[in-house]
Amino acid sequence: MQSLLVTGGMGFIGSNFIHYWKKHHPDDPIINVDLLTYAGNRDNARLFDGQVGYQFVQSDIGDEALMMKLMQGIDVVVHFAAESHVDRSIHDPGHFVRTNVVGTQILLEAARRGQVKKFIHISTDEVYGSLGVEGAFSEVTPLAPNSPYSASKAGSDLLVRAYYETYGFPAVITRCSNNYGPRQFPEKLIPLLITRALRNEKIPLYGDGLNVRDWLYVDDHCSAIERVIEAGVPGEVYNVGGQNERTNLEVVQSILRLLGKPESFIQYVADRLGHDRRYAIDSSKIRRELGWAPAYSFEKGLQKTLEWYVRETEWCARIADGSYRVDKEADHT
Ligand SMILES: NC(=O)c1ccc[n+]([C@@H]2O[C@H](COP(=O)([O-])OP(=O)(O)OC[C@H]3O[C@@H](n4cnc5c(N)ncnc54)[C@H](O)[C@@H]3O)[C@@H](O)[C@H]2O)c1
Repeated sequence: MQSLLVTGGMGFIGSNFIHYWKKHHPDDPIINVDLLTYAGNRDNARLFDGQVGYQFVQSDIGDEALMMKLMQGIDVVVHFAAESHVDRSIHDPGHFVRTNVVGTQILLEAARRGQVKKFIHISTDEVYGSLGVEGAFSEVTPLAPNSPYSASKAGSDLLVRAYYETYGFPAVITRCSNNYGPRQFPEKLIPLLITRALRNEKIPLYGDGLNVRDWLYVDDHCSAIERVIEAGVPGEVYNVGGQNERTNLEVVQSILRLLGKPESFIQYVADRLGHDRRYAIDSSKIRRELGWAPAYSFEKGLQKTLEWYVRETEWCARIADGSYRVDKEADHT
């Protein structure tokens, strides 16, 4: 049995990770630290409220004194909390530096002083920049972030590396490609497409729609993190990808087809500033060294995702009318 502190566990990937971990390791206690920003949704982990071995703490990871206190007796930190939306980073870069860079340093320091045994830092393939039509990012690709979001994530990666090199702190970095699946806030491409198409609304598509992303079903990301917790080597970086490269246009077309909606729903809009053209990730290291492999093809993962959004009408309605935010003032567990 090991005790986990998960940051950002009310967000998309963090909450899916808690669901995954509780299913596979039901006896492990988890503290979920989340500030409940606009992206944090109490509904995402409400199922665990009141369960023995689960505690939600509404807090900023930048609260140094509280982080120090919470680290007592923690074996593993899994750090998801971040400002994560590229478009928002273009409008307010400072906020991204405060949470993603300064917040990560405060968490690292608290974990180091608390003698945590392993710290998993969840990063992104976006720190590597953009690719042409060929090639893929490996763990030794130089960092070349292009947006304030990816620059802030690269900054946090460098701090994690420095904590390993300077203090021998047992930190590991994972860099994954675009995740999709249940409980994703509908500002990101796939849930935006699904929720709009279900309401018969137009679907905005940046530029020519030919930007390429590699798609990873969120449960496959969770199983990769599980392997890193179990066997990842401190100081190492592991890329995690789904080997599912698709243009944004192909993604939109697949979703419209599966929902039985016409392609006339697509509305091309002006491209995002500094929009990276292509990301592709070489995840052969985690496959070879930790024996991880994704279980979901894009088609299978997309089908499961669609079924979830179609079924969870209340979750979608509470996001759409903003009532998911009501908990934010009420909760100070
Ligand atoms: N979504 C993806 O496709 C993707 C891909 C690669 C990497 N990542 C990384 O994975 C992590 C999780 O991404 P996500 O998509 O789940 O993000 P998300 O935006 O859905 O969730 C982020 C969570 O962090 C919380 N949070 C934000 N600032 C906080 C703070 N100062 N203190 C405490 N909590 C705070 C929010 O309330 C929210 O619950 C991020 O670090 C992101 O960079 C995501």
